[in-house]
Amino acid sequence: MSLPVSPQGDLTVALARDPYRTLSQTALRVGADAFRGKLLLSDTVFLTGRDMAEQFYTGGFATVSPTGSGKILGFIGGNDTDAETQQTERQRRRALLTDAIAPEKREALIGRVEAGLKALSERAPNEIVLRDEMVRVLTRATLEWAGLTLSEGEAEKVAEDLITRSGHAIPTSLRKVGAAPSQQRLESWAATLIGEIRANTREVTRDGLADQVASYYTAEMLPPDRKEAGTEFLNHLNAITGVATYFTFMAHACATRENGHRDMSERPHSFVQEVRRYYPAVPFVRARTSKDVEIAGATVEAGTRVVLDLYGINHDARLWDHPAMFRPSRFDNLTIDPYALLAQGAGDEVTGNPCPGLDLTTDLMLAFGEWFSGLTYEMPRQNLDLAMSEMPALPKSGVVLQNLRAA
Ligand code: HEM
Repeated sequence: MSLPVSPQGDLTVALARDPYRTLSQTALRVGADAFRGKLLLSDTVFLTGRDMAEQFYTGGFATVSPTGSGKILGFIGGNDTDAETQQTERQRRRALLTDAIAPEKREALIGRVEAGLKALSERAPNEIVLRDEMVRVLTRATLEWAGLTLSEGEAEKVAEDLITRSGHAIPTSLRKVGAAPSQQRLESWAATLIGEIRANTREVTRDGLADQVASYYTAEMLPPDRKEAGTEFLNHLNAITGVATYFTFMAHACATRENGHRDMSERPHSFVQEVRRYYPAVPFVRARTSKDVEIAGATVEAGTRVVLDLYGINHDARLWDHPAMFRPSRFDNLTIDPYALLAQGAGDEVTGNPCPGLDLTTDLMLAFGEWFSGLTYEMPRQNLDLAMSEMPALPKSGVVLQNLRAA
């Protein structure tokens, strides 16, 4: 038996135009949850639907991080590093991050974010672009929490470069070229930072995230060079500040849904889950099969690229009642099926969730929701349409708020 083939053949152009809906629409056209096609000229198997998600996360795929192999948890080694060493390094670096954001340490970060939000409403600005302002708040909070004593204007400069870049969970190959100068500045800042910490010329809290990344040694007792270590630190910073995207989606839901504000304050947990389900943050994730696997009755050879349709599954009518409606109450008393709600990948205690930032993300969203529920503001005329060809598909205006005040 063989898998059906996408009628468009190479899906690269269609995905660049509409990264969120192309895969589920193609699956409907071919009448199957698994089909073959091409991505960037390479043979690829595309998967959608809950059962395919379960197989993707449990059935012999070696997942790569969404920014491309070895970028997040990144300084894993060059082409001469064997797969086992890479896997060990990935796990060790993942453990470093997981430890840094363990519940008791996470609270300190959330406290700093809450303080930043409070300071913003006390400043009572006449107008803000919420998305940009949230990147600023998250950047300062994260750098301080990571143990850095910041120089004048340092957090602001870093934040401005992060603002011109999108969240971390995006396939690099599809990233916009325009973000390159900001990326270069960020990489050079982070490499210098690591160099200074190592040379003891930069004040840093011992055992904070920055210190830990700077003093990390590989399993083979090699210190990664400062550029690689800097990229690692930057990836963590980028991931945390990426949560600004969800803050923006939360404000968008309040602005565009009749009961948005009420749901946010009355059922905060359900509201957060519905934002993660409904809004277009990460369209899909990629992996390669580590051995021959059987998918929908067909043999897929080892080494084949596989793409899983996260957004399509979050909007699958077989799993969600009226999926196109934003309805937080659907999560009241619902036990979440990890293979049906896939905003940050899937997994459980046993398989391990591929996104170690999941709990931190929801905690930050709850903190934002509490702050936002206690505000008064006005909304000028603006374009709140979601930019569906962008990743993430933020509202075009970034959500402009005027006369922001604590109620
Ligand atoms: C906006 C919120 C976030 C979204 C949408 C998101 C999404 C994702 C996705 C889709 C993956 C890949 C899952 C897979 O391969 O199947 C991932 C992996 C990852 N995320 Fe997140 N994430 C978010 C927040 C965070 C935060 C706050 C952190 C860290 C503090 C983080 C750290 C990571 C890391 C390190 C990986 C790679 C794990 C590995 O390769 O073992 N993420 N994320």
